[in-house]
This record gives sequence, structure tokens and C-alpha cells, in this order.
Amino acid sequence: MRHDLIFRDATVIDGTGAARRIADVAVSGGRIAAIGDLAAASADREVIATGKVLAPGFIDAHTHDDRALLCGPECLHCKMSQGVTTVVVGNCGVSLSPLTRTRRPPPPLDLLGDESWWTFDSFADYADRLDREKPPLNAIALIGHMSLRVREMPEGDYARPATAAETARMEKRLDESLAAGACGLSTGLWYAPSNAAPTDEVIAIAGVLEKHGGLYATHMRDEGDGVLDSIAETLRIGKESRARVVISHFKCVGPQNHGRSPETLAAVERAAAAGADVGFDVYPYFASSTVMRPETLRDDVRVLVTWSVPHPQMQGRDLAEVAAEWGVSRVDAARKLLPAGAIYFQMSEADVDRIIAHPMAMVGSDGLPHDAFPHPRLWGTFPRVLGHYARDKRVFDLETAVHKCSGLTARRFGLADRGVIRDGAFADLVLFDPETVIDSATFAAPATPAAGIEATWVNGVAVYRQGQGPTGESPGRLIRRAS
Ligand code: ZN
Ligand code: CU
Repeated sequence: MRHDLIFRDATVIDGTGAARRIADVAVSGGRIAAIGDLAAASADREVIATGKVLAPGFIDAHTHDDRALLCGPECLHCKMSQGVTTVVVGNCGVSLSPLTRTRRPPPPLDLLGDESWWTFDSFADYADRLDREKPPLNAIALIGHMSLRVREMPEGDYARPATAAETARMEKRLDESLAAGACGLSTGLWYAPSNAAPTDEVIAIAGVLEKHGGLYATHMRDEGDGVLDSIAETLRIGKESRARVVISHFKCVGPQNHGRSPETLAAVERAAAAGADVGFDVYPYFASSTVMRPETLRDDVRVLVTWSVPHPQMQGRDLAEVAAEWGVSRVDAARKLLPAGAIYFQMSEADVDRIIAHPMAMVGSDGLPHDAFPHPRLWGTFPRVLGHYARDKRVFDLETAVHKCSGLTARRFGLADRGVIRDGAFADLVLFDPETVIDSATFAAPATPAAGIEATWVNGVAVYRQGQGPTGESPGRLIRRAS
């Protein structure tokens, strides 16, 4: 039997959570063709994998890579160098379609770029572009509530509930998008002006999801003092719209809320026990990152500037230093920097550990690929889960770590034949050294590829090799939700 590719003597961790085993793995036509002792088989290319782990390519459950997918392999170096093979785009209410702009979109939509990037009037247009210019990685896409609002409400008049007519138009756009293969709806109810949307507006729009089997993902209204109310709101939206739910970047924000994760996790567990179809993603850091919101600053939370349109020289600087240099308060300095992005050191390590260890927790980076000085999660999330959380800190074993990065996520998002290593599955694969794998990106040097990730394959084609970087291949595809 001749194959395209054979891995010899690999330590296979298959993504299901099952114990590792030593095996050869063969790939043909972009799929896994055989697993076991393949001494009698040959291949065009052989990889001696002795001592190395072969795992399913990681699925980044939470990304803002809508635009990064369109600008060539180098734009996703940050992901393929972590072993990521599939990204979920359109999170936090922010999706690159269906919306066109001639002016800079309001934050947080500008996370994805200025007006020059907003050219997709429909999700079908965005999907066509991905089909034409194949992306380096696979993608599945959520449609952002904020993108729908900015499209269907009058310019600048977003800070109010949508009218019945506006809501009906948003439902229609979502319906069209899901029919064209988007996998669900996302909201970012924490962000102004989406926070002006009442729960009923979201329930009405999310009502479209059921007939398409779509999913509801949410950056909740409040991840701090009101987090329990927000969890209840999220579960209500899921229940009334009969949609599967993903709570995005599950956390407890603000020093006064540190230690509340047992309560918040228990609330989700109770709902699941009562029949709710709910899960969540988390990133392995105790600092968050998003657009700069001066009105949310607290004296006891350190802030780093990740980008600023009027003052690009301040990126990477501590906001307190910038304020001192300018002789103004931190809030005034933050205002002067707008539009801008920031990192906030506002979670506790114990909460992050407890949340990421939870059996429902999937790994999602929430990396911001267009930030000038990004949070290190963009380059470090997955190797940090493997190296820091599993190997060094022993929060869980390596099989569990891989499951949280692949099989669990595939199941939640309904991805058939991905996230696992088995006969017939797509050959999305990562080869890594379990002794040395670790994140190298830091808050001081965020754009640093991880150590120990040897190579990454998408649909059987190598996209990344350590020491070499992106191979230049673009074997990815948009995975449309099967209707
Ligand atoms: Zn978010
Ligand atoms: Cu996000």
C-alpha cells in the first residue's frame, strides 16, 4: 500500500481524551488512511516521529481571524506555529460580513480593521472569497450581532434597542448567512453600543438558529459583578431560541470578583444537568485584551496599550507611564489614545486554573491578529496549555489538554471528521515534542513562535515547519455548517 505520508513510531494522542499509544499513521488524499503497525506500507514522504506526539490539529474555538484568513499564510503564522488547523471566526459580535463600510466602523468592529476591509455585503460573498483564495487554515464562521446592528440601524444611532423592523431585517440577514453556511450567531453584549440591545432583541434574532442547527456564542453583558445575571441571561437566550450555547472566554473579572469561579461554574453545571446544551471556551492567561474603554478602568488593574491610532508610539507601554508622561490621569490618557486597544490584568490565576480544568472548557485564544502589540495569547495559547498547564503545572494530563484543544471543540461546533485521529478523519495534524513544547510569547515580546511544535498539517498538507515558518501552502477551506 502506498500513501502520501506516513508518520512512523508516533505517540498518538487521538483527541478523544483516550490514553496515548505508539503507532504509525498514514495519510492519503487529505484523510487519515491507516493507523497501527504499517511496516509493510510505504509513502511519498515519511516522518520519523519517535518520541514525538502526533495529535489532531488544534481548533481555536474563539478567534478574530476573519480578515487574517484573507491575507496569506504569513498572517496566520501565529496560529499554525501553535498547531492550530481550524479557527472559529466572527466572535464577540464582530464578523467581517454581512457589512460594507465607507467610514471606520465603531469599536469593537474596528478590531478587524478600518473601512478598507469592510467589503462583504453578504456572508455568501465572504464565503466565495475564501473558496476562491484558499486560506492556509480551515475556518468556521459565526455572524456577529454588532455587524448586523451596524448594518440595519441608522449610522451612529446604535445606542438604543433595535425597532421591530430593524430586528426583523437582522433576522433575515442571519437567516441568509446561515443558509450560506455560517455556523451561528455571536454577541458582544458588554460592548457599547451593543449593550443597548435588550435580551428580547437577541432572543428574536437567535430564533433563526434552530432551523439551521446554528449555535449561539456570547461575550456576555457582564463578566464582573453581574456575571451570574449574565450567565442566566445567556442560558435564557439559549433556551428560548433552542440553540446550543458557547459562553466566550469564561472568566471572573475584577479583583472584587476573584474567587467566584466555583459559583459561576456551578451555575453552568446546574443548567447542563437540567438539559441546557452549553459549553464554554477559555484562554490560559489572567490578563484580558480588547479595545480601550476608558470608562471601565479601575485603579487596581494594570493596563498595557496594544495599539493607538493617534499615538502609535505608545503601543506596548503601561497606561500609567503614558499618563505620567503626559501629566494627566489614566482615564484622560486612555481617552487621548482612542481609538485604541489594551491589555487588562484583571483575573486571578486560581480562577483561570479552575475554569480551564473544568470538563466543559475548550481552549480558544481570543487572539487579536491586527493589534500592533498583541496580547501573547495570539502566539502562545495552545503550547501554553500543553506545556505550562499539563506538563509543568499538572492541572490535567496531556491527553485531556489535547482533548480540550481538539475533540471537545469539534463536538461542540458539530465538526464532523475533525478534531480526532481515526481512520477516515481529515488529516489535520500537529507533531510536537512533549518534553519541550511551551509558549514563548510574553507580554514584552508577544509575537514569538512557540517552542516544541515541530510541524502542522492541514488536510494532509504541511503548512508550518519549526525553524522554517509557514511553508506557503494554503490547503484550508471554509467549513460550511451542513444543512
Ligand atoms: Zn470577547
Ligand atoms: Cu473575542
